[in-house]
Amino acid sequence: NNFCIIMAGGIGSRFWPMSKSTMPKQFLDILGTGRTFIQMTFDRFKHICPVENIYVVTSVAYKELVMEQLPELDEHQVLLEPLRRNTAPCVAYASYKIKTINPKANIIVAPSDHLIVKGDDFVKEINKGIDYAKNNQVLVTLGITPSRPETGYGYIQIDGQADYKDYENLYKVKTFTEKPNKDMAEVFVSSGEFFWNSGIFIWSLDTILNAFETHLEDVSSLFKKGEKLYGTDDEVHFISKTYSECQNISLDYGIMEKADNVYVLCADFGWSDLGTWGSLYENSDKDEHKNSISGGEVFTYQTQNCIVNLPKDKLVVLQGLDGYIVVESDNTLLICKKEDEQQIRQFVSDVKMVK
Ligand code: GDD
Ligand code: MG
Repeated sequence: NNFCIIMAGGIGSRFWPMSKSTMPKQFLDILGTGRTFIQMTFDRFKHICPVENIYVVTSVAYKELVMEQLPELDEHQVLLEPLRRNTAPCVAYASYKIKTINPKANIIVAPSDHLIVKGDDFVKEINKGIDYAKNNQVLVTLGITPSRPETGYGYIQIDGQADYKDYENLYKVKTFTEKPNKDMAEVFVSSGEFFWNSGIFIWSLDTILNAFETHLEDVSSLFKKGEKLYGTDDEVHFISKTYSECQNISLDYGIMEKADNVYVLCADFGWSDLGTWGSLYENSDKDEHKNSISGGEVFTYQTQNCIVNLPKDKLVVLQGLDGYIVVESDNTLLICKKEDEQQIRQFVSDVKMVK
């Protein structure tokens, strides 16, 4: 009964210029492992559910990329979105579709662009989550011990331990705060009471559909209307109309912040989002001046704490830089202070206006 929904429709704009709307982060092999992020995500879920129960939700623009990178998927397992409406509509669509296939499904919702180093521990925690969620009306998320006041994540405050088997790392959630400002993030991290939301969720189909009906009634009723159309020739037309009428909202803001039946499994499975150049820097090997350099032929002088990522044949000399991102991809060069990397999203949309 286990089903997995892989969300793969984001554009990864904070990883610009390497990640672009034509080739977002989930389809890149940024770490040079030979597998892209979405392929690694798929590989992990093959240990949790049968391949035919893995669904990928992405933009129509990425259909070929998904089919190419995940040839084991049948076309009907790739759900195509005509417009970007963030993660709540993505999950609503996939959930109603799965309902037509197995109304008793247990569902794992996963981002397509995370790095998980300890695969076995990950599978163990997911299985615990499934065990709890299949018997209880609960929304379970996987929580990570925070290591810095990152403002790009959701923060989870825990209440007491859940009384369930010997799952000592399962807690009831008191508050869920999506993307706090810097001051709040600092308070959260120093209090020691908060975990990061990994963005990986586990619930029964029934529970998530109830949560949609309670907290995002308009989204839920739009997708519910298609119950008889999923899997038929009319699905594409119905979805295209539905997305144009649907609001743009993430699961985190739309459901997780509001629901009162949220639980968190706090665990260490070597997780990182690597959502930004700074997080890639934190996770990569550095030289004696704390520079992380890949690609290019790079000479550095009085340069430290930088992340440099360049095309193979690029010759570059850096002098006097401290804490910078220097990235070139496809003839586009970005030089930006690491601490200001959240602005990259804005740069991308400004650049699009002029290009
Ligand atoms: N299909 C589809 N459609 N997928 C989408 C869409 C969409 O419109 N928007 C985003 N995604 C995919 C992305 O490709 C990514 O794999 C996943 O959904 C999460 O979206 P992000 O845009 O990366 O979210 P985030 O990183 O800002 O925040 C989420 O993840 C954090 C941890 O990495 C939240 O869940 C936070 O609470 C969490 O801390
Ligand atoms: Mg992300």
